[in-house]
Amino acid sequence: MYFEKICWVVTGAGHFLGETADMLASPRSARVDLYFTRAGAEVAVKYGLFKRLEACAENTYRENDFSSGSAVYFAGGRYDALVIAPATANTVAKCVLGVADSLASNFFAQAGKSGVPIIILPTDAKTEIESSTVSGKRITLRPRPIDLQRMDELSRFPGVTAVSSPKSLRHVLNSA
Ligand SMILES: Cc1cc2nc3c(=O)[nH]c(=O)nc-3n(C[C@H](O)[C@H](O)[C@H](O)COP(=O)(O)O)c2cc1C
Repeated sequence: MYFEKICWVVTGAGHFLGETADMLASPRSARVDLYFTRAGAEVAVKYGLFKRLEACAENTYRENDFSSGSAVYFAGGRYDALVIAPATANTVAKCVLGVADSLASNFFAQAGKSGVPIIILPTDAKTEIESSTVSGKRITLRPRPIDLQRMDELSRFPGVTAVSSPKSLRHVLNSA
């Protein structure tokens, strides 16, 4: 498997956002188009990372329509893979339920229906997560059972690889 062109969606998560920016900034062979959900753009701006993320991509798009017209690119063969990182609990819940009413959930649905591999990094993948607020304060969050069970549910979707850390995401992308 070789990814030449990746569609990378950033959702509205502060957790793993810095690591995502580091990953996108590091050298790789694949070209990346970056898509921000509405919350994704807001949160990236709050963390001061929007411009850094934007600079790593060939093209950058913000969610600006209700029907996610760009989702048609998966059936058209524009992308070899869909990466959703970081993925909020909100987006993950929609994805596993088959809801497609936002950029990230529509991309997940259309990539799945088009046989395009999906790699997803949920923020709520472990019983306890250490994260940072916008002001840099360290916080500990304990995802609820309903959030944690989504990891197993995601992995049952054909073509979906759910990873629980930026390191695992990097490994999957480097070995593709
Ligand atoms: C500063 C900030 C940081 C956030 N970080 C997270 C996070 O790490 N994980 C998460 O699940 N939601 C987080 N949220 C909440 C999401 O942004 C919110 O659920 C949003 O509706 C998600 O929309 P999306 O899934 O379409 O991107 C954060 C919100 C703010 C304002």
